[in-house]
Amino acid sequence: MSSLLSGRRAIITGAASGFGRAMAHIFAQAGADVVGTDLNQDGLAETQALLADDGLPFEALEHDVTSPASWNTVIETAFQNGPCDILVNNAGVAKLQRFGEMSLETFQSVCNVNILGPFAGTKLFVEQVRAAAGEAPARASIVNITSIAAKKSLPVFTAYGPSKAGLANLTKALAVELGLKGDFIRVNAVAPGPVRTPMTEAAADLPWEERDHSLVKAIPIARYGEIEEVAKAALYLASDRAKFVTGHTIPVDGGWGDI
Ligand SMILES: NC(=O)c1ccc[n+]([C@@H]2O[C@H](COP(=O)([O-])OP(=O)(O)OC[C@H]3O[C@@H](n4cnc5c(N)ncnc54)[C@H](O)[C@@H]3O)[C@@H](O)[C@H]2O)c1
Repeated sequence: MSSLLSGRRAIITGAASGFGRAMAHIFAQAGADVVGTDLNQDGLAETQALLADDGLPFEALEHDVTSPASWNTVIETAFQNGPCDILVNNAGVAKLQRFGEMSLETFQSVCNVNILGPFAGTKLFVEQVRAAAGEAPARASIVNITSIAAKKSLPVFTAYGPSKAGLANLTKALAVELGLKGDFIRVNAVAPGPVRTPMTEAAADLPWEERDHSLVKAIPIARYGEIEEVAKAALYLASDRAKFVTGHTIPVDGGWGDI
């Protein structure tokens, strides 16, 4: 695994915690130059310190994925030190609420982060990848982090589920379009099942230990996922091991998604 991404440069959004931090670590271990972005500056600094402990470089950029201007800065900065060829759209918010309680503004704010953000960033990323390739075919891999919520629903997935289903479908639409251009721009997704991260920690009032974890009984591999299990699926999709794979979603959900 050590050289799976050598010579590659990756932008990972939401790199201040959870999956984003783990992907930054594992991608850098695999040889990539990683540009990690997030709203959360303190978290990004922690990610940077974690990688530095292992002697791995990490460029941290403040970023709001809902802002096209912020994306402009990120893409420009990331391409300044050479072409980038991996984009991981990982930043996300859950805001779990029932339909009756959810305002239009909350619905829109979830969609802004989870689907508008990846759309806006991918657009600028692909333009830059093509510009950097010149006359040669452009090569890149885009990995979207969707969710089991794109397929399976719970009452509180009012906005989260549709936003992730939209991102899953955008993955397919872009794979078709970018594959038709004679380029080698692949677009895939990872759909995690439930994993303990700051997002799921914050999703209910009770501390993790005091929660009713009966949800795992519905999962064939009856446990929560591990953060690294999700990060390794993204690593595979980003790498040339997946060079004939596009338009697909890899579920990392203990078998829950399709039963
Ligand atoms: N943890 C799970 O069980 C689970 C399951 C399925 C999918 N996911 C998805 O995985 C991704 C990562 O989630 P996580 O569990 O690691 O949660 P997390 O909360 O640890 O990480 C999400 C990161 O996104 C950042 N972020 C939020 N809004 C942003 C914005 N507007 N601009 C830039 N950054 C922003 C946050 O600051 C945070 O660092 C999300 O897209 C989430 O929906 C998580």
